[in-house]
Amino acid sequence: MSRAALPGFRDFYPQELAERAYVMNAWREVAGRYGFVEYDGPPLEPLELYTAKSGDEIVGQLYVFEDKGGRKVALRPEMTPTFARMVGAKLNALRKPVRWFSTPQLFRYERQQKGRLREHFQLNVDIVGEPDVAADAELLALAIDVMREVGLTASDVRARVSDRRLIGALLAHFEIAEKDHPLVYAVLDKLDREPRAALEKRLTDGGVAPHAVRSLFEAVGSKSLDELRTRLGGVRALDGHFETMTRYFELLRALGVDDWVRLDLSVVRGLAYYTGIVFELFDTAGEFRAICGGGRYDDLLATLGGTPAPALGFGMGDVVLGELLRSRKLMPALEPALDYWVASDDEALLSDVMTVAARLRGGGHSVEYSLRPQQLARQLKAASSAGAAQVVILLRDQWSGGAGTMTVKTLADGSERVVRGDELFNFPV
Ligand code: HAM
Repeated sequence: MSRAALPGFRDFYPQELAERAYVMNAWREVAGRYGFVEYDGPPLEPLELYTAKSGDEIVGQLYVFEDKGGRKVALRPEMTPTFARMVGAKLNALRKPVRWFSTPQLFRYERQQKGRLREHFQLNVDIVGEPDVAADAELLALAIDVMREVGLTASDVRARVSDRRLIGALLAHFEIAEKDHPLVYAVLDKLDREPRAALEKRLTDGGVAPHAVRSLFEAVGSKSLDELRTRLGGVRALDGHFETMTRYFELLRALGVDDWVRLDLSVVRGLAYYTGIVFELFDTAGEFRAICGGGRYDDLLATLGGTPAPALGFGMGDVVLGELLRSRKLMPALEPALDYWVASDDEALLSDVMTVAARLRGGGHSVEYSLRPQQLARQLKAASSAGAAQVVILLRDQWSGGAGTMTVKTLADGSERVVRGDELFNFPV
Protein backbone atom coordinates (compact mmCIF):
# COMPACT_ATOMS: atom_id res chain seq x y z
CA MET A 1 0.00 0.00 0.00
CA SER A 2 1.27 3.47 -0.87
CA ARG A 3 2.38 5.56 2.10
CA ALA A 4 2.12 8.87 0.26
CA ALA A 5 -0.79 11.15 -0.63
CA LEU A 6 -1.80 11.21 -4.30
CA PRO A 7 0.45 13.36 -6.53
CA GLY A 8 -0.60 17.00 -6.29
CA PHE A 9 -2.48 16.47 -2.98
CA ARG A 10 -1.16 17.71 0.33
CA ASP A 11 -1.03 16.31 3.84
CA PHE A 12 -1.47 19.21 6.22
CA TYR A 13 0.72 18.54 9.26
CA PRO A 14 0.15 21.09 12.06
CA GLN A 15 2.78 23.51 10.69
CA GLU A 16 1.23 23.37 7.21
CA LEU A 17 -2.26 23.68 8.61
CA ALA A 18 -1.17 26.70 10.67
CA GLU A 19 0.15 28.28 7.44
CA ARG A 20 -3.08 27.56 5.64
CA ALA A 21 -5.05 29.02 8.55
CA TYR A 22 -2.83 32.11 8.55
CA VAL A 23 -3.51 32.75 4.86
CA MET A 24 -7.22 32.00 5.16
CA ASN A 25 -7.59 34.27 8.19
CA ALA A 26 -6.00 37.09 6.20
CA TRP A 27 -8.50 36.40 3.38
CA ARG A 28 -11.48 36.48 5.75
CA GLU A 29 -10.23 39.54 7.58
CA VAL A 30 -9.78 41.63 4.42
CA ALA A 31 -12.98 40.41 2.72
CA GLY A 32 -14.87 41.32 5.91
CA ARG A 33 -13.29 44.78 5.92
CA TYR A 34 -14.78 45.38 2.46
CA GLY A 35 -18.23 44.24 3.59
CA PHE A 36 -18.25 40.86 1.81
CA VAL A 37 -20.17 37.96 3.40
CA GLU A 38 -19.19 34.30 3.24
CA TYR A 39 -21.03 31.53 1.35
CA ASP A 40 -20.25 28.00 0.18
CA GLY A 41 -21.61 25.51 -2.34
CA PRO A 42 -21.26 21.77 -3.01
CA PRO A 43 -17.80 20.34 -3.77
CA LEU A 44 -19.38 17.97 -6.31
CA GLU A 45 -21.38 19.44 -9.20
CA PRO A 46 -23.07 18.26 -12.40
CA LEU A 47 -20.49 18.05 -15.18
CA GLU A 48 -22.42 20.36 -17.50
CA LEU A 49 -21.99 23.26 -15.09
CA TYR A 50 -18.38 23.46 -16.35
CA THR A 51 -18.78 22.35 -19.94
CA ALA A 52 -21.24 25.24 -20.45
CA LYS A 53 -18.77 28.10 -20.10
CA SER A 54 -15.50 27.49 -18.26
CA GLY A 55 -13.36 26.89 -21.34
CA ASP A 56 -11.53 23.88 -22.71
CA GLU A 57 -8.45 24.10 -20.51
CA ILE A 58 -10.30 23.68 -17.24
CA VAL A 59 -12.72 21.11 -18.66
CA GLY A 60 -9.70 19.01 -19.69
CA GLN A 61 -8.54 19.08 -16.06
CA LEU A 62 -11.77 17.92 -14.43
CA TYR A 63 -11.98 15.09 -11.94
CA VAL A 64 -15.09 13.56 -13.45
CA PHE A 65 -17.02 10.35 -12.85
CA GLU A 66 -20.47 8.84 -12.97
CA ASP A 67 -22.24 8.60 -9.61
CA LYS A 68 -24.37 5.60 -8.58
CA GLY A 69 -27.45 7.33 -9.99
CA GLY A 70 -25.82 7.49 -13.44
CA ARG A 71 -25.19 11.25 -13.24
CA LYS A 72 -22.02 12.70 -14.77
CA VAL A 73 -20.46 14.66 -11.93
CA ALA A 74 -17.24 16.64 -11.39
CA LEU A 75 -15.28 17.83 -8.36
CA ARG A 76 -15.36 21.62 -8.52
CA PRO A 77 -12.30 22.96 -10.38
CA GLU A 78 -13.36 26.57 -9.73
CA MET A 79 -16.07 28.37 -7.79
CA THR A 80 -17.40 30.85 -10.34
CA PRO A 81 -20.00 28.58 -12.02
CA THR A 82 -21.38 27.51 -8.62
CA PHE A 83 -21.47 31.12 -7.49
CA ALA A 84 -23.15 32.29 -10.70
CA ARG A 85 -25.77 29.54 -10.42
CA MET A 86 -26.50 30.28 -6.76
CA VAL A 87 -26.80 34.03 -7.25
CA GLY A 88 -28.63 33.73 -10.59
CA ALA A 89 -31.29 31.52 -8.99
CA LYS A 90 -32.16 34.04 -6.24
CA LEU A 91 -30.99 37.37 -7.54
CA ASN A 92 -34.30 39.13 -7.03
CA ALA A 93 -34.32 38.26 -3.34
CA LEU A 94 -30.71 39.32 -2.70
CA ARG A 95 -29.45 42.70 -1.53
CA LYS A 96 -27.60 44.27 -4.45
CA PRO A 97 -24.89 44.61 -5.31
CA VAL A 98 -24.21 41.09 -4.04
CA ARG A 99 -20.81 41.06 -2.30
CA TRP A 100 -19.93 37.50 -1.39
CA PHE A 101 -16.75 35.59 -0.73
CA SER A 102 -15.82 31.95 -0.25
CA THR A 103 -12.68 29.88 0.40
CA PRO A 104 -13.38 26.51 -1.30
CA GLN A 105 -10.97 23.66 -1.87
CA LEU A 106 -10.80 23.10 -5.65
CA PHE A 107 -9.60 20.18 -7.74
CA ARG A 108 -7.89 20.25 -11.13
CA TYR A 109 -5.98 17.42 -12.72
CA GLU A 110 -3.01 19.68 -13.55
CA ARG A 111 0.28 18.77 -15.11
CA GLN A 112 2.87 18.64 -12.29
CA GLN A 113 4.63 22.00 -12.07
CA LYS A 114 5.75 24.53 -9.50
CA GLY A 115 2.85 26.46 -8.00
CA ARG A 116 0.19 24.18 -9.47
CA LEU A 117 -1.21 21.26 -7.50
CA ARG A 118 -4.24 19.05 -8.03
CA GLU A 119 -6.07 20.58 -5.10
CA HIS A 120 -5.84 24.08 -3.70
CA PHE A 121 -7.80 26.47 -1.57
CA GLN A 122 -8.95 29.59 -3.35
CA LEU A 123 -10.33 32.84 -2.05
CA ASN A 124 -13.20 33.82 -4.32
CA VAL A 125 -14.55 37.34 -4.09
CA ASP A 126 -17.38 38.34 -6.41
CA ILE A 127 -19.76 41.24 -6.96
CA VAL A 128 -23.06 40.95 -8.85
CA GLY A 129 -25.34 43.74 -9.98
CA GLU A 130 -22.91 46.59 -10.59
CA PRO A 131 -21.80 47.52 -14.12
CA ASP A 132 -19.81 50.59 -13.02
CA VAL A 133 -16.02 50.46 -13.15
CA ALA A 134 -16.03 51.52 -9.48
CA ALA A 135 -16.83 47.87 -8.71
CA ASP A 136 -13.78 46.73 -10.73
CA ALA A 137 -11.59 49.12 -8.73
CA GLU A 138 -13.07 47.96 -5.42
CA LEU A 139 -12.38 44.34 -6.30
CA LEU A 140 -8.74 44.86 -7.29
CA ALA A 141 -8.13 46.99 -4.19
CA LEU A 142 -9.39 44.12 -2.06
CA ALA A 143 -7.00 41.66 -3.73
CA ILE A 144 -4.11 44.09 -3.17
CA ASP A 145 -5.11 44.66 0.45
CA VAL A 146 -4.78 40.90 1.03
CA MET A 147 -1.16 41.27 -0.13
CA ARG A 148 -0.64 44.10 2.36
CA GLU A 149 -2.31 42.12 5.12
CA VAL A 150 0.31 39.37 4.82
CA GLY A 151 3.21 41.84 4.74
CA LEU A 152 3.87 42.10 0.98
CA THR A 153 4.53 45.46 -0.67
CA ALA A 154 4.24 47.04 -4.11
CA SER A 155 7.85 46.03 -4.75
CA ASP A 156 6.96 42.35 -4.19
CA VAL A 157 3.71 42.11 -6.18
CA ARG A 158 2.36 43.71 -9.33
CA ALA A 159 -1.25 43.76 -10.53
CA ARG A 160 -1.41 43.56 -14.32
CA VAL A 161 -4.68 44.82 -15.75
CA SER A 162 -6.28 44.71 -19.15
CA ASP A 163 -9.73 44.94 -20.70
CA ARG A 164 -11.12 42.31 -23.01
CA ARG A 165 -13.45 44.85 -24.63
CA LEU A 166 -10.52 47.16 -25.34
CA ILE A 167 -8.57 44.26 -26.85
CA GLY A 168 -11.64 43.26 -28.90
CA ALA A 169 -11.89 46.82 -30.23
CA LEU A 170 -8.15 46.83 -31.03
CA LEU A 171 -8.49 43.58 -32.96
CA ALA A 172 -11.44 45.02 -34.89
CA HIS A 173 -9.41 48.16 -35.61
CA PHE A 174 -6.53 46.04 -36.97
CA GLU A 175 -9.12 44.16 -39.06
CA ILE A 176 -8.41 40.81 -37.44
CA ALA A 177 -11.38 38.54 -38.16
CA GLU A 178 -13.59 37.32 -35.26
CA LYS A 179 -12.74 33.74 -36.09
CA ASP A 180 -9.06 34.46 -35.36
CA HIS A 181 -9.70 36.08 -31.96
CA PRO A 182 -9.34 32.87 -29.92
CA LEU A 183 -5.92 32.28 -31.54
CA VAL A 184 -4.88 35.87 -30.83
CA TYR A 185 -5.95 35.56 -27.17
CA ALA A 186 -4.03 32.30 -26.82
CA VAL A 187 -0.92 33.96 -28.27
CA LEU A 188 -1.24 37.08 -26.09
CA ASP A 189 -1.49 34.82 -23.05
CA LYS A 190 1.95 33.35 -23.89
CA LEU A 191 3.64 36.69 -24.59
CA ASP A 192 5.94 36.74 -21.57
CA ARG A 193 6.71 33.01 -21.68
CA GLU A 194 7.54 32.30 -25.33
CA PRO A 195 9.77 34.01 -27.94
CA ARG A 196 8.01 36.72 -29.84
CA ALA A 197 9.09 35.52 -33.28
CA ALA A 198 7.51 32.10 -32.67
CA LEU A 199 4.29 33.74 -31.53
CA GLU A 200 4.18 36.04 -34.56
CA LYS A 201 4.61 33.00 -36.76
CA ARG A 202 1.73 31.21 -35.06
CA LEU A 203 -0.49 34.15 -35.90
CA THR A 204 0.57 34.51 -39.52
CA ASP A 205 0.39 30.72 -39.99
CA GLY A 206 -3.12 30.97 -38.55
CA GLY A 207 -4.08 33.42 -41.29
CA VAL A 208 -3.65 36.82 -39.57
CA ALA A 209 -2.16 39.43 -41.94
CA PRO A 210 1.50 40.28 -41.13
CA HIS A 211 0.84 44.05 -40.87
CA ALA A 212 -2.00 43.37 -38.41
CA VAL A 213 0.30 41.18 -36.34
CA ARG A 214 2.91 43.95 -36.25
CA SER A 215 0.40 46.62 -35.20
CA LEU A 216 -1.05 44.32 -32.57
CA PHE A 217 2.34 43.58 -30.97
CA GLU A 218 3.22 47.28 -30.97
CA ALA A 219 -0.03 48.18 -29.25
CA VAL A 220 0.24 45.37 -26.73
CA GLY A 221 3.80 46.45 -25.96
CA SER A 222 2.45 49.71 -24.47
CA LYS A 223 3.58 49.99 -20.86
CA SER A 224 0.95 52.50 -19.81
CA LEU A 225 -2.44 53.80 -20.78
CA ASP A 226 -0.84 57.10 -21.84
CA GLU A 227 1.52 55.29 -24.18
CA LEU A 228 -1.32 53.30 -25.73
CA ARG A 229 -3.40 56.45 -26.08
CA THR A 230 -0.58 58.30 -27.79
CA ARG A 231 -0.23 55.41 -30.20
CA LEU A 232 -3.91 55.05 -30.99
CA GLY A 233 -5.49 58.25 -29.70
CA GLY A 234 -7.12 59.11 -33.03
CA VAL A 235 -9.16 55.92 -33.20
CA ARG A 236 -12.74 56.86 -32.27
CA ALA A 237 -13.82 53.27 -31.67
CA LEU A 238 -11.36 53.07 -28.77
CA ASP A 239 -12.40 56.33 -27.02
CA GLY A 240 -15.01 54.76 -24.76
CA HIS A 241 -12.60 52.04 -23.66
CA PHE A 242 -9.87 54.56 -22.93
CA GLU A 243 -12.32 56.54 -20.80
CA THR A 244 -13.27 53.46 -18.80
CA MET A 245 -9.62 52.58 -18.21
CA THR A 246 -8.73 56.14 -17.27
CA ARG A 247 -11.51 56.17 -14.69
CA TYR A 248 -10.44 52.75 -13.42
CA PHE A 249 -6.92 54.04 -12.77
CA GLU A 250 -8.28 57.20 -11.11
CA LEU A 251 -10.42 55.14 -8.75
CA LEU A 252 -7.51 52.82 -7.97
CA ARG A 253 -5.54 55.92 -7.03
CA ALA A 254 -8.40 57.07 -4.79
CA LEU A 255 -8.30 53.69 -3.05
CA GLY A 256 -4.55 54.02 -2.53
CA VAL A 257 -3.44 51.02 -4.59
CA ASP A 258 -2.33 52.59 -7.90
CA ASP A 259 1.35 51.93 -7.08
CA TRP A 260 0.68 48.23 -7.41
CA VAL A 261 -1.08 48.38 -10.81
CA ARG A 262 0.18 48.42 -14.41
CA LEU A 263 -1.61 48.19 -17.75
CA ASP A 264 -0.64 44.97 -19.50
CA LEU A 265 -2.64 44.01 -22.56
CA SER A 266 -1.09 40.55 -22.64
CA VAL A 267 -3.33 39.60 -19.70
CA VAL A 268 -6.31 37.91 -21.32
CA ARG A 269 -7.14 35.16 -18.74
CA GLY A 270 -7.63 31.57 -19.77
CA LEU A 271 -11.27 31.21 -18.73
CA ALA A 272 -13.82 31.74 -21.46
CA TYR A 273 -16.42 33.76 -19.56
CA TYR A 274 -14.61 37.08 -19.02
CA THR A 275 -16.08 40.07 -20.85
CA GLY A 276 -14.42 43.25 -19.52
CA ILE A 277 -11.59 44.39 -17.26
CA VAL A 278 -9.39 41.45 -16.28
CA PHE A 279 -6.39 41.29 -13.98
CA GLU A 280 -3.71 39.06 -12.52
CA LEU A 281 -1.33 39.46 -9.60
CA PHE A 282 2.26 38.28 -10.02
CA ASP A 283 5.43 38.53 -7.96
CA THR A 284 7.56 41.30 -9.45
CA ALA A 285 10.64 39.05 -9.63
CA GLY A 286 8.80 36.73 -12.01
CA GLU A 287 9.69 33.64 -9.98
CA PHE A 288 6.21 32.27 -9.44
CA ARG A 289 2.99 31.55 -11.28
CA ALA A 290 -0.01 33.90 -10.94
CA ILE A 291 -1.07 34.58 -7.36
CA CYS A 292 -4.53 35.71 -8.30
CA GLY A 293 -6.70 36.28 -11.35
CA GLY A 294 -10.11 37.60 -12.13
CA GLY A 295 -12.26 40.06 -13.98
CA ARG A 296 -15.68 40.94 -15.24
CA TYR A 297 -18.00 38.25 -16.58
CA ASP A 298 -21.24 40.07 -17.40
CA ASP A 299 -22.87 37.24 -19.40
CA LEU A 300 -22.28 34.19 -17.23
CA LEU A 301 -25.38 34.36 -15.01
CA ALA A 302 -27.63 34.43 -18.07
CA THR A 303 -25.62 31.66 -19.77
CA LEU A 304 -26.25 29.43 -16.78
CA GLY A 305 -29.97 30.10 -16.99
CA GLY A 306 -30.25 32.69 -14.24
CA THR A 307 -31.36 36.30 -14.21
CA PRO A 308 -28.93 38.31 -16.39
CA ALA A 309 -26.75 40.61 -14.29
CA PRO A 310 -23.33 42.22 -14.53
CA ALA A 311 -20.76 40.37 -12.43
CA LEU A 312 -17.09 40.37 -11.60
CA GLY A 313 -14.74 38.59 -9.27
CA PHE A 314 -11.37 36.98 -8.67
CA GLY A 315 -9.77 33.83 -7.37
CA MET A 316 -6.60 33.78 -5.26
CA GLY A 317 -4.98 30.45 -4.48
CA ASP A 318 -3.15 29.45 -1.31
CA VAL A 319 -0.31 27.65 -3.13
CA VAL A 320 1.57 30.43 -4.89
CA LEU A 321 0.85 32.92 -2.12
CA GLY A 322 2.30 30.43 0.38
CA GLU A 323 5.43 29.91 -1.75
CA LEU A 324 5.92 33.65 -2.05
CA LEU A 325 5.46 34.25 1.69
CA ARG A 326 7.90 31.49 2.58
CA SER A 327 10.48 32.81 0.10
CA ARG A 328 10.19 36.31 1.62
CA LYS A 329 10.31 34.93 5.20
CA LEU A 330 6.84 36.30 5.82
CA MET A 331 5.16 33.01 6.74
CA PRO A 332 4.86 32.78 10.53
CA ALA A 333 6.14 29.59 12.16
CA LEU A 334 3.71 27.63 14.27
CA GLU A 335 4.56 28.62 17.85
CA PRO A 336 3.22 26.26 20.49
CA ALA A 337 1.17 28.25 23.00
CA LEU A 338 -0.64 27.28 26.14
CA ASP A 339 -1.95 29.35 29.07
CA TYR A 340 -1.24 26.77 31.80
CA TRP A 341 0.44 23.46 32.44
CA VAL A 342 -0.64 21.74 35.67
CA ALA A 343 2.03 19.64 37.38
CA SER A 344 2.57 17.86 40.67
CA ASP A 345 5.37 16.23 42.61
CA ASP A 346 3.02 13.46 43.77
CA GLU A 347 1.43 11.02 41.32
CA ALA A 348 -1.33 10.34 43.84
CA LEU A 349 -2.54 13.88 43.10
CA LEU A 350 -3.37 13.15 39.42
CA SER A 351 -7.11 13.51 39.97
CA ASP A 352 -6.52 16.86 41.74
CA VAL A 353 -4.32 17.95 38.82
CA MET A 354 -7.14 17.03 36.47
CA THR A 355 -9.72 18.89 38.55
CA VAL A 356 -7.54 22.02 38.56
CA ALA A 357 -7.05 21.69 34.78
CA ALA A 358 -10.80 21.30 34.28
CA ARG A 359 -11.52 24.41 36.39
CA LEU A 360 -9.02 26.46 34.41
CA ARG A 361 -10.40 25.18 31.10
CA GLY A 362 -13.87 26.10 32.34
CA GLY A 363 -12.52 29.63 32.71
CA GLY A 364 -11.59 29.62 29.01
CA HIS A 365 -7.86 28.93 29.41
CA SER A 366 -5.85 26.43 27.38
CA VAL A 367 -4.41 23.81 29.73
CA GLU A 368 -2.35 20.62 29.50
CA TYR A 369 -0.86 18.26 32.04
CA SER A 370 1.09 15.03 31.91
CA LEU A 371 -1.19 12.09 31.15
CA ARG A 372 1.08 9.67 32.97
CA PRO A 373 3.21 9.85 36.12
CA GLN A 374 6.43 11.79 35.54
CA GLN A 375 9.16 13.44 37.60
CA LEU A 376 8.38 17.09 38.31
CA ALA A 377 11.48 18.16 36.33
CA ARG A 378 10.19 16.26 33.28
CA GLN A 379 6.80 17.88 33.64
CA LEU A 380 8.38 21.35 33.73
CA LYS A 381 10.34 20.54 30.59
CA ALA A 382 7.18 19.34 28.85
CA ALA A 383 5.41 22.55 29.95
CA SER A 384 8.15 24.61 28.41
CA SER A 385 8.15 22.77 25.08
CA ALA A 386 4.36 23.07 24.96
CA GLY A 387 4.82 26.86 25.15
CA ALA A 388 3.01 27.18 28.49
CA ALA A 389 3.00 30.69 29.93
CA GLN A 390 2.54 29.46 33.51
CA VAL A 391 2.89 26.18 35.36
CA VAL A 392 0.56 25.47 38.26
CA ILE A 393 2.33 23.07 40.63
CA LEU A 394 0.49 21.01 43.23
CA LEU A 395 3.19 20.23 45.79
CA ARG A 396 2.33 17.47 48.24
CA ASP A 397 3.35 19.57 51.25
CA GLN A 398 1.43 22.67 50.22
CA TRP A 399 -1.62 21.06 48.70
CA SER A 400 -2.28 18.02 50.85
CA GLY A 401 -0.48 19.41 53.84
CA GLY A 402 -3.68 21.23 54.73
CA ALA A 403 -3.08 24.66 53.21
CA GLY A 404 -4.64 23.78 49.81
CA THR A 405 -2.32 26.18 48.04
CA MET A 406 -0.47 25.86 44.74
CA THR A 407 2.74 27.31 43.37
CA VAL A 408 2.36 29.21 40.10
CA LYS A 409 5.53 29.59 38.09
CA THR A 410 5.81 32.02 35.18
CA LEU A 411 8.11 30.34 32.68
CA ALA A 412 9.29 33.52 30.96
CA ASP A 413 11.11 34.85 34.04
CA GLY A 414 11.06 31.87 36.44
CA SER A 415 9.19 33.85 39.10
CA GLU A 416 6.95 31.96 41.50
CA ARG A 417 4.11 32.79 43.79
CA VAL A 418 1.93 30.73 46.09
CA VAL A 419 -1.82 31.07 45.56
CA ARG A 420 -5.05 29.59 46.90
CA GLY A 421 -7.40 27.80 44.49
CA ASP A 422 -10.03 30.56 44.57
CA GLU A 423 -7.38 33.12 43.67
CA LEU A 424 -6.10 31.08 40.78
CA PHE A 425 -9.46 30.47 39.23
CA ASN A 426 -10.10 34.19 39.14
CA PHE A 427 -6.70 34.96 37.65
CA PRO A 428 -6.55 36.99 34.49
CA VAL A 429 -4.69 35.15 31.72
P1 HAM B 1 -7.90 30.95 -12.19
O1 HAM B 1 -6.98 31.94 -12.83
O2 HAM B 1 -8.09 29.66 -12.86
O3 HAM B 1 -9.28 31.69 -12.00
O4 HAM B 1 -7.39 30.68 -10.72
C1 HAM B 1 -7.21 31.75 -9.81
C2 HAM B 1 -5.98 31.50 -8.96
O5 HAM B 1 -6.11 30.22 -8.31
C3 HAM B 1 -4.67 31.40 -9.71
O6 HAM B 1 -4.12 32.68 -9.93
C4 HAM B 1 -3.84 30.56 -8.76
O7 HAM B 1 -3.33 31.35 -7.68
C5 HAM B 1 -4.85 29.63 -8.17
N1 HAM B 1 -4.82 28.32 -8.85
C6 HAM B 1 -5.49 27.94 -9.95
N2 HAM B 1 -5.24 26.66 -10.28
C7 HAM B 1 -4.38 26.21 -9.35
C8 HAM B 1 -3.72 24.96 -9.11
N3 HAM B 1 -3.90 23.91 -9.89
N4 HAM B 1 -2.89 24.86 -8.05
C9 HAM B 1 -2.68 25.92 -7.24
N5 HAM B 1 -3.28 27.09 -7.39
C10 HAM B 1 -4.11 27.26 -8.43
C11 HAM B 1 -10.42 31.10 -11.54
O8 HAM B 1 -10.45 30.00 -11.02
C12 HAM B 1 -11.64 31.98 -11.61
N6 HAM B 1 -12.83 31.15 -11.32
C13 HAM B 1 -11.50 33.14 -10.65
C14 HAM B 1 -12.69 34.03 -10.61
C15 HAM B 1 -13.55 34.20 -9.58
N7 HAM B 1 -13.11 34.80 -11.60
C16 HAM B 1 -14.21 35.45 -11.22
N8 HAM B 1 -14.50 35.09 -9.98
